[in-house]
Amino acid sequence: MENKLKKIKEDALLALKDLKSQDAFLALEKKFLGRKGKISEVMKSLVDLSQEEKKKVGQLANQIKKELQSRFSDSFKETSSMGDKDEYFDVTLPGIKNKLGHLHPLTQIQRDMEEVFKELGFSSLEGPELESDYYNFEALNVAKDHPARDMQDTFYIDKKNKDGEKDLVMRTQTSPMQIRAMKKYGAPLRVIVPGRCFRNEATDIRHEHTFYQLEGLMIGEDINFSHLRGVLELVGKKLFGEDAELRMRPKFYPFVEPGANGEYKCFVCSGKGCNLCKGTGWLEVIGSGMVHPNVLRAGGIDPEKYQGFAFGFGLTRMAQLKYGVEDVRLFNSGDLRFLEQF
Ligand code: DAH
Repeated sequence: MENKLKKIKEDALLALKDLKSQDAFLALEKKFLGRKGKISEVMKSLVDLSQEEKKKVGQLANQIKKELQSRFSDSFKETSSMGDKDEYFDVTLPGIKNKLGHLHPLTQIQRDMEEVFKELGFSSLEGPELESDYYNFEALNVAKDHPARDMQDTFYIDKKNKDGEKDLVMRTQTSPMQIRAMKKYGAPLRVIVPGRCFRNEATDIRHEHTFYQLEGLMIGEDINFSHLRGVLELVGKKLFGEDAELRMRPKFYPFVEPGANGEYKCFVCSGKGCNLCKGTGWLEVIGSGMVHPNVLRAGGIDPEKYQGFAFGFGLTRMAQLKYGVEDVRLFNSGDLRFLEQF
């Protein structure tokens, strides 16, 4: 038995010297040290020996096993750098470049804006793209026969969602999340909701059936219009630089009272008038106002105790302006010639 063990060791060491590849190494390791390898074989046959023999041979077997393990481990390091010895490798060839992707321009704008609002203490929420008619319109003070619905024709889905809500629509705006957020978190509240919206549009360079908005809502006991203005002004400065200017003009939105649109001074011509701002000097990107009491009530908040402001940025529009993209349809085209420019 002892001779057999010594022979195994000699054979193994001899074979190790002659290795040509890592595959050969692995096969050899299995042959000698594997679960069904030669050393294990000897170990298994120890049962037939006398107590004394068992001890002696067992010790020797263990010692040889350890020694081989260490030698194998050394050889492994050597063989790991072994390739096919005949392979010719031209180190002067240019390498293979992995093409790196990057974030979509809309995602970049979204992240920039989230960062700004995060600093102001706003949490960022997501909402369902398939909304109920109730949240998308009615809870926002847009009754079934309200003319404001004409502006926001969308895709109507004849099914129930998992919460059993029916009369589903592809949301036309991110505003429905105002109601969901109020119901879930109550007041005071500071949230933004970036997300995808849909409208039944005849598409052209300025209209797309799928686009992005970023909604905002702040509710508290002493919130007034100047807070709204202050926040929008600050956001403009963070995004367009310290010289950014904001102007607000009255505009009707059913879910706010008073309502206003917000325009930033054109960052290309500084208000003189150019192609980007269509000669007006101003870029219209925001709808906003003080939250209508009916909307607060729909969100389960007492309008006698709390007020708030809301706003909605056209995210796609912001990206169009920032990058000077004339045709809005390019954003969803998946055309790499377009996307690789950002
Ligand atoms: N949801 C409006 C739209 O799609 C934009 C908007 C206007 C959002 C006024 C608001 C708001 O939160 O207060 O045109």
